Amino acid sequence: MESQQAHRKDEHLSLATATYQRAHAHHYFDQVRLIHNALPEMAVKDVDHRVQLAAGLQLEWPFYLEAMTGGSNQATKINRTLARLASKHHLAMATGSLSVALKEPATRPSFTVVREESPAGIVIANLGADASLDKARDAIRILNADALELHLNAAQELVMPEGDRDFHWLANIAHLVDELDVPVIVKEVGFGMSRSTINQLQAAGVKLINVSGRGGTNFAMIEDRRNHQIDLTDLADWGQTTPEALLEARKSRSRATIVASGGITSPLDVIKAGVLGAQAVGVAGYFLNILIRDGAAALDQALTDWQTEIPRLLTLLGCRNFTELQQTPFVLTGDLYSYAQQRHLI
Ligand code: FNR
Repeated sequence: MESQQAHRKDEHLSLATATYQRAHAHHYFDQVRLIHNALPEMAVKDVDHRVQLAAGLQLEWPFYLEAMTGGSNQATKINRTLARLASKHHLAMATGSLSVALKEPATRPSFTVVREESPAGIVIANLGADASLDKARDAIRILNADALELHLNAAQELVMPEGDRDFHWLANIAHLVDELDVPVIVKEVGFGMSRSTINQLQAAGVKLINVSGRGGTNFAMIEDRRNHQIDLTDLADWGQTTPEALLEARKSRSRATIVASGGITSPLDVIKAGVLGAQAVGVAGYFLNILIRDGAAALDQALTDWQTEIPRLLTLLGCRNFTELQQTPFVLTGDLYSYAQQRHLI
């Protein structure tokens, strides 16, 4: 018999798939247009697709499997398949929050399977931003993790009947960044970040920020479908889209490394996120959907396709590596242009 927390993890998995189609009605990266370069003056073989996020944290590819699951039998199976594919494709992978593994040690194999399947790969642990230093160290140790993600999920918690109601996180984040000896990435879970949030994180010493914006998985909708107690569908459009959040982060690029996630569904999205300033891109819901709906072979093929297309798109833009994308000109259209103007971001 699995615990309540394990049951919640399974509900997240099934609802993330069920709500994904609807969430995906808007594709916010369409409002970012790139300028074609008819004279690339380079070859696809010139592309170096590696990205350096921090000392000791180099990814072979600019996209990775973003934090999703752990804590139940179904999560074990999903993590095993994801980690196998991550290892095969030399992709980094983050696990879902290890808080359940710390509370219920019996669930640990659902996380450690990731390290077993990807013994030499980059594995990123995940916890809430209120985690104590001891818990953070335990989570890193359990996975022999290369980095730790701390998630900011106030909107999600407030939608959950059993969720937290107190969000004093900044001092703890500063303490963890100071004390831990692996890189710490502070991430949202799909509601994005503002310039002031990013500035506050930087002032607290955070060097790696994943703005994780709206446009893909939507935890307001997932939790709303789980509880039915109060109608929270009006939060369906809450938060910054991923392109908006990347624009919010643009002026901070020299002081922190910016990572994107939220609604990334194609190699072109990865490239556009790079143009807007992301140094790496996490993908959760889109890959989970392929795996659950179409199976592991389909996800394997999708990863192969992305790894073929990303170097070609970099070549088309005349970029020898992912960081050079930041020099690529772009045009914003529609709501995104209006947002950028009103927020004085361009
Ligand atoms: C998530 N996400 C997430 N994030 C996190 O920091 N800790 C977690 O435990 C989870 N759990 C989780 C479960 C499931 C089923 C999904 C789909 C997602 C959020 C995820 O890492 C990411 O920030 C958002 O999903 C936005 O990216 P996508 O899904 O739009 O690519």
